[in-house]
Amino acid sequence: MAQNTLILGLQWGDEGKGKIVDALAENSEVVCRFQGGHNAGHTIKVDGEEKVLHLVPSGILHPSIDCVLGNGLVLSLRALSEEILELEKSGINFKDRFYISNDCCLILPTHIQIDKVRDKSEGIGTTGKGVGPAYEDKVARRAIRFGDLKDLSFLKPKLKILVEYHNKILMHLYDSDPVPFKDVEEELVEHQKLYDKFHTPTQELLSEWVQDNKKIIFEGAQGSMLDIDHGTYPYVTSSSTTAGGLLTGLGIGPKYIDSILGITKAYTTRVGEGPFPTELFDENAKQLAKIGHEFGATTGRPRRCGWLDLKALEKIMFVNSVTSLCVTKLDVLDRFKEIKICIDYDENQDPIYKTFIGWKTQISNIKTFTDLPKEAQEYILFIETYLRCPVDIISVGPSRDQTIYKS
Ligand code: GDP
Ligand code: IMO
Ligand code: MG
Repeated sequence: MAQNTLILGLQWGDEGKGKIVDALAENSEVVCRFQGGHNAGHTIKVDGEEKVLHLVPSGILHPSIDCVLGNGLVLSLRALSEEILELEKSGINFKDRFYISNDCCLILPTHIQIDKVRDKSEGIGTTGKGVGPAYEDKVARRAIRFGDLKDLSFLKPKLKILVEYHNKILMHLYDSDPVPFKDVEEELVEHQKLYDKFHTPTQELLSEWVQDNKKIIFEGAQGSMLDIDHGTYPYVTSSSTTAGGLLTGLGIGPKYIDSILGITKAYTTRVGEGPFPTELFDENAKQLAKIGHEFGATTGRPRRCGWLDLKALEKIMFVNSVTSLCVTKLDVLDRFKEIKICIDYDENQDPIYKTFIGWKTQISNIKTFTDLPKEAQEYILFIETYLRCPVDIISVGPSRDQTIYKS
């Protein structure tokens, strides 16, 4: 593995980032998140046990790895606290290995309320975690940041003005109940200990680690097609999920990123509303959803399913300057007689497909590329050739060891 690797999803999220970050973390020293919030749901399966991480980086299951939440995240103190507590119960230690940027903007209970009521009329199908409203406040320069928890009495007047503003939106724009100020204040007071334990000038720490040649993984959340600038706007999330988001979301320059691993499922899924050219509504969709267990890890909503869209991936590969690919959930296609890949769109913007013959055998125990059925190899080789990028990793099951390293 290269020194510092960015790992990100190339589709609409849920590509299997958590599984791959956890698997590759074995050979690294640090895992950092740089954008998004607890809208993410990253699933890791180890020794038959499944863990879903929302804010905590997917390196945490390896005891020697340091984990960082960079300035680019939006942070719900309650969500983080609950997640840490749950992980601590299963014996995971956070002391001296978990660092949160002082500059992270907070998700307050009012943000969550605004997100929920507003989405009813806007119909983006958000996760309802307050992510969009929190990023709005960040850009409008009125957010409360993690470092502000240092002095709550100093913070109180600013918080009061902000909560009043949020409540005006709730009452007057959405005819919804206001959130009592004391509820918001109490959440900050209750979780101030997170600040005491974990607050860090993460940008400085990162710069030291880079000087020390530590091996670092940068873990993307969401997927590139949910990027606020380059995704299917307005049906996107509110952060920069593509490679550019890493640079600002942690404060690290591009020359320190040695490789960029783009993850794509062997097919496509999407949760929430928005365009999805290769979406299926037939028996194949049902099979993909059923075999792939395609239900959102954060909200439990069914994921929409369709064939792989190489035309869409091609564009997003450039945006991210992907240096190698990982194809996940190839095993989900095991039982299909025919599998399709979108290679272009026609004049109506409908997908043009190339059809592949299915391999019709179980591949989840296979360890090497050359042991895969010929048809599965051909499927992967076509992706490589079309995207002009090597597929270095193929995932054939949710567990760490169900990973084929092709090169
Ligand atoms: P993330 O958000 O990108 O981390 O992905 P999610 O965890 O939301 O969704 C991926 C789901 O697929 C999880 O339930 C994983 O356990 C599972 N998964 C990951 N890789 C594979 C794979 O290669 N095969 C199968 N069958 N499941 C996988
Ligand atoms: P991971 O990291 C899949 C989607 C939501 C909605 C849109 C905006 O697990 O891949 P938001 O709450 O962010 O304002 O919702 O983005 N979305 C995701 N879809 N995986 C995710 O994260 C997602 N995070 C947000 O469904 O369509
Ligand atoms: Mg997910």
